[in-house]
Amino acid sequence: MIPQSFIDELKYRLNIEEVVSSYVPLKRAGKNLKGLCPFHSEKTPSFTVYPDTNSFYCFGCGKGGDPITFIKEIEHLEYTESLKFAAQRVGLSMPEDVKDDKAASLKRRILEINRLSARFFYSALISPNGKEGYAYLRRRGLNDETIKAFGLGFAPNSWRSLCDYLLKKGFTTEELVTANVARTNSKGNVYDLFRNRIMFPIIDLKGSVIAFGGRVMDDKKPKYLNSPETNVFKKGRNLFALNIAKNQNSGSLILTEGYMDTIALHASGFKNAVATLGTAITSEQARLISFYADEVIICYDSDEAGRKATNRAVEIFSDTGLRVRILNIPNAKDPDEFIRKKGRESFRELLESSLNSTENEIELLKRKYDTSTSDGKLYFLKEFCLLMAKQEDILAAEVYISKIASSLGISKDAVTEEVNTLKKRAYYREKKKLELALPSFAAQREDFSNDPQRHKYYKYAKCEDRLLFFLYKNPNSIPLIRELLPPEKWVTDSNREIYSTMLSFYEDNISLDISSLAAHLSQEQISRFSGIIAKNCESNISLETANELCRIILSIKNEKSADEISKMDISEIGSYANELMKNKK
Ligand code: UTP
Ligand code: MN
Repeated sequence: MIPQSFIDELKYRLNIEEVVSSYVPLKRAGKNLKGLCPFHSEKTPSFTVYPDTNSFYCFGCGKGGDPITFIKEIEHLEYTESLKFAAQRVGLSMPEDVKDDKAASLKRRILEINRLSARFFYSALISPNGKEGYAYLRRRGLNDETIKAFGLGFAPNSWRSLCDYLLKKGFTTEELVTANVARTNSKGNVYDLFRNRIMFPIIDLKGSVIAFGGRVMDDKKPKYLNSPETNVFKKGRNLFALNIAKNQNSGSLILTEGYMDTIALHASGFKNAVATLGTAITSEQARLISFYADEVIICYDSDEAGRKATNRAVEIFSDTGLRVRILNIPNAKDPDEFIRKKGRESFRELLESSLNSTENEIELLKRKYDTSTSDGKLYFLKEFCLLMAKQEDILAAEVYISKIASSLGISKDAVTEEVNTLKKRAYYREKKKLELALPSFAAQREDFSNDPQRHKYYKYAKCEDRLLFFLYKNPNSIPLIRELLPPEKWVTDSNREIYSTMLSFYEDNISLDISSLAAHLSQEQISRFSGIIAKNCESNISLETANELCRIILSIKNEKSADEISKMDISEIGSYANELMKNKK
């Protein structure tokens, strides 16, 4: 248990504005601040920081809480770890007697296993045992310096060499299996997961080895074997080589598909290259890139799959505010092969001539149609105009339209007119869609999927919300409200839990703020509570209103179900209706 005094000191020193703005650019909006939410993709800021209550809340995704919650979520830490991280930030040391929770200590064990495994693979590579692996990497053009910089290694062609090494170091079979470096067979014997493969450690931003990719040295399948996800490794959250690339401060990052592409780029001096780990880029990775660069250069394989992946990536990046450029690789299947064939200078030229995403789409259209025929010209123009109609930058559209019109030998005005017609049409379609969507949008504002009780008893849940807000603002009224409405009379379990926590805080003389509550409530609960505060913060609930809210909540007992009502006789229904009328007033 972490001493309350420590948490108090910590939260006193943590300033929400300062913490958040080191991750998210914020703009002042009245007494609050707004920015693009780091927890979901959005184009207009709904993420709000409240210096008053030292808290944040996102109206888009519903995440909210205090500075520690923010750190926990954005750094993907366990609660105790986030306290440590926050303490470090403000120069406090953690009290001695703080025991890490089980999850955190297991995490440390896994990271230690990974670190030792990476060392083991590296030593194997440069030992006589790893001859074959070392020769393979040399054949692919990597020198010792690059091998070392990436900590590349070799998993020997044996069933137990890594297991034996780690067991001898004192790890248990279960730990090896949990860390995903080993498996057990049906007889319960443990064996190495990676055998006879070139090993690529995946290293996170703190420099910890969190996973491995292992490549065969021939044409066997699977070409790469990857560590499954563990509690230290989530694929969509990490980028290969970002630990190195982030230190280049070059303002831009080059995004590739593969380990070997990124390594080849680094080896040629482009140390700002990173790779997704064999899957489509996630919005989380896109945001991660936007923390370290203003520009991303997508440099995927030149095949059809690579082009499709490029389009998807452009879409994902469009929410991040990053400038996006696209690099098409001529005469080679991927950046690694290109650089091996043509050298670093040619790659630099490619980089310099890389296109922004609109130019790239125009380029692809040109390749799609044969514009020397009139049919081809027409089809090309149709798609080109659609593209221009979607273009937000009007000046840029002008430039493209002029260029294309003159290269096709047609009038610029005709193209412009077509684009404007398409724009108008799109505008009305969009407007219609919005009108249609509006009513359901209002009803769907709140997501009930995790809390069916809230849905069923929505009216009462809203009253409870306001009552919680009242108590938060007026903790001195807690004894009074407790009399009127003890916890067991609350309608929804989720609000009852927050209420009970408030009551026990009051009993223990702990100040009622979001930070203290965050230490006792689940992430969902604290997000919801931050939401309640954010949504009510302009309102002032009087004690009379609070009384009224209690009365409404208590009245649920009197509400009968349709089934019950159908069984009443006329006079019963009459008096029930009277009672309801009284309550509604
Ligand atoms: P590629 O097949 O393009 O690999 O897959 P590559 O990086 O160019 O590797 P070389 O040049 O053949 O050695 C791109 C990425 O997809 C993932 C890997 O992360 C790889 O780097 N991948 C590929 C897998 O995870 N498993 C596979 O079987 C294949
Ligand atoms: Mn390749």
